[in-house]
Amino acid sequence: MGGPGGLGLVQLRRGKRRARGEPLVGDYTRVALQGSGHGVRIALPAGLMDTLTIRRPDDWHLHLRDGAMLQAVLPETARHFARAIIMPNLLPPVVTLADAAAYRDRILAALPPGMVFEPLMTLYLTEGTDPANVAAAAASGLVKAVKLYPAGATTNSQSGVRDLARVMPVLEKMAEIGLPLCTHGEVTTPEVDIFDREAVFIDTVLDPLRRRLPELRLVMEHITTGEGVAYAAEAGEGLAATITTHHLILNRNHILAGGIRPHYYCLPVAKREKHRLALRRAATSGSPRYFLGTDSAPHVDALKEDACGCAGCFTATNTMSLLAHLFEEDGALDRLEGFTSLHGPAFYRLPVNQGTLRLEKRPDQCLWPDKISSDAGPVTVFNPGFPVHWHVVA
Ligand code: DOR
Ligand code: ZN
Repeated sequence: MGGPGGLGLVQLRRGKRRARGEPLVGDYTRVALQGSGHGVRIALPAGLMDTLTIRRPDDWHLHLRDGAMLQAVLPETARHFARAIIMPNLLPPVVTLADAAAYRDRILAALPPGMVFEPLMTLYLTEGTDPANVAAAAASGLVKAVKLYPAGATTNSQSGVRDLARVMPVLEKMAEIGLPLCTHGEVTTPEVDIFDREAVFIDTVLDPLRRRLPELRLVMEHITTGEGVAYAAEAGEGLAATITTHHLILNRNHILAGGIRPHYYCLPVAKREKHRLALRRAATSGSPRYFLGTDSAPHVDALKEDACGCAGCFTATNTMSLLAHLFEEDGALDRLEGFTSLHGPAFYRLPVNQGTLRLEKRPDQCLWPDKISSDAGPVTVFNPGFPVHWHVVA
């Protein structure tokens, strides 16, 4: 069953729950979705679907960190996801092919026995990055993208880019060889309001860059605004946007009204409700321009619950259950597979996963740990603030 552009399979079951081991007979709807998931809608009342089998998902934007934290968070992702694009913002950052190869080895060494997971590595773009090293990294097959952090935009971005002109030779090389650029799309100019930083980035950095280098393949990472949604919608197949789970749930009131909630603080910061709704429409639209990048970003509680708390929501543990809940709420369960398992591989020109993930809606609420423990300290698991009943069962 096909690679990118091939067939996707969504299996939806309605009616009574099946006892464990009971054969798959009866009231099934089995639907072949064309590549992107476009154009097929299943007219089943949402409340009647209670199992969902999709191709094993990938996470196209993930922070795994290193050392004790890596050890603690990796199983949370590997339990459900086959692959993930691994962010390179370590200290020091993952800049060269050699850095990426060594980091990949550390990730694989941290994988618990019996778990299968493929880290898709990225390089951190600096003003000293060598275009030839980037070309070698792409040719090796080990590195799948380069990450642009505007210097000062977010966690460990101090080695990032201050002046885009200085990295043009690298970007030109990437355009030539088809290696995607993942952008943290926020300007860092102090005068620009933090809630406007994405929209200003699109107008003053992203759009001029695309006009100058139309061949550059580009991912707008973790979009948070209607402007981001609209920009990606109008682009051709060389541009895509990732959307996080938490930005589909949170608006800025959730962070700030009635007390500051540090575990909802991330970057780009969640925006007004109208932007959250635009993200929901994009994610559930079936358009191949949008796919999941959780940006699951663990920090120990001591660093989140601080006078100057770190940015990041840790969603690896419960993302798939949350997404099933949200897509069902929007009458789009049949489009979940496109968002989590088909559109990403199509953009990155990788085969889709062969395995599957099965979710079941049950009367009992999903119970996740409040925190996962690491030798570096506890990490709070994202709390959506509403009950969720979609359990990942296999
Ligand atoms: O919230 C965030 N956390 N946004 C980022 O861009 C970086 C990430 C991190 O590394 O903690
Ligand atoms: Zn990130």
